[in-house]
Amino acid sequence: ARITLRQLLDHAAEHDYGVPAFNINNMEQALAIMEAANTVDAPVIIQASRGARSYANDIMLKHMMDAVTEIYPHIPVCVHLDHGNGPDTCMTAIQSGFTSVMMDGSLKADGKTPADWDYNVGVTKTVTTMAHLGGISVEGELGVLGSLETGMGDKEDGHGAEGKLSHDQLLTNPDEAVKFVKETQVDALAIAMGTSHGAYKFTRKPDGDILAMKVIEEIHRKLPSTHLVMHGSSSVPQDLQEIINAHGGKMKPTWGVPVSEIQRGIKNGVRKINIDTDNRMAMTGQIRKVLSEHPEEFDPRKYLKPAMEAMAKLCKQRLQEFNTAGQA
Ligand code: G3H
Ligand code: 13P
Ligand code: NA
Ligand code: ZN
Repeated sequence: ARITLRQLLDHAAEHDYGVPAFNINNMEQALAIMEAANTVDAPVIIQASRGARSYANDIMLKHMMDAVTEIYPHIPVCVHLDHGNGPDTCMTAIQSGFTSVMMDGSLKADGKTPADWDYNVGVTKTVTTMAHLGGISVEGELGVLGSLETGMGDKEDGHGAEGKLSHDQLLTNPDEAVKFVKETQVDALAIAMGTSHGAYKFTRKPDGDILAMKVIEEIHRKLPSTHLVMHGSSSVPQDLQEIINAHGGKMKPTWGVPVSEIQRGIKNGVRKINIDTDNRMAMTGQIRKVLSEHPEEFDPRKYLKPAMEAMAKLCKQRLQEFNTAGQA
């Protein structure tokens, strides 16, 4: 069944678990997520970015979401818009059947210029006012994703803030978070504490200096009933880097967010954990492996099936690690 983010995260808060939000762009990714959720009896968030919407087409996405809820009627699925860049984008997502939207007003509509307070509150409030009338949930974001190591926004990974950012921008201010939630009435709040999108988050295993989990703890103390969202939460597993590089890939050494840090977040109000990169890596590793070991193959199913299985395995692992398993 399709449910809203608010329904799902309220249940997660009540039962002390977190819910991974996995990105999809195609049928294989949607099926992999559902296969994993079904195997461990977990609810799940499937999210699509603006890029996914233009890649797959809104009508295709809508029918894929209908299809997976029909195949797995007993699994609660929240269909969420990832990083909406304006009220218009959020509204068209709602028209396409999304039960939840992210209005990311931390950046201007160009997706790269850090926005000021009034802009962020203004666009977010517009979306919550409209979405809530239709029973749709809204995620907002306060603070800009980017690296505390380099001070750079995550633009190098394809989207996000451009150029150098201050510490103030890279870390969500807890008092401002309280004000932001009160003024916008968001159902969930994405915060910035040193993560960025993509594979290249940290140049070393992160410690408290570059992954500021303390900020989450402080925000949770001040906003105990607000559902917190961690973006850029891929762990970028070393074994997946190795599979990719063993079969012709050229990923540079890198670190992601350790699962243990996410688990610490879940103890402190983090309810939605965004993961895309890990799944991209899981799929790509298998596709590279099949194609390099069997260069005579050209049937897409020969590499897409192992890719799907690798993604399902990763999703299942996260559903277990975040205690989502068994909660459907
Ligand atoms: O926001 C980041 C997600 O990984 C989606 O990425 O915009 O390339 O689809 P995308
Ligand atoms: P990763 O790139 O770490 O998977 O983050 C995904 C994300 O935050 C989507 O909004
Ligand atoms: Na999101
Ligand atoms: Zn994100």
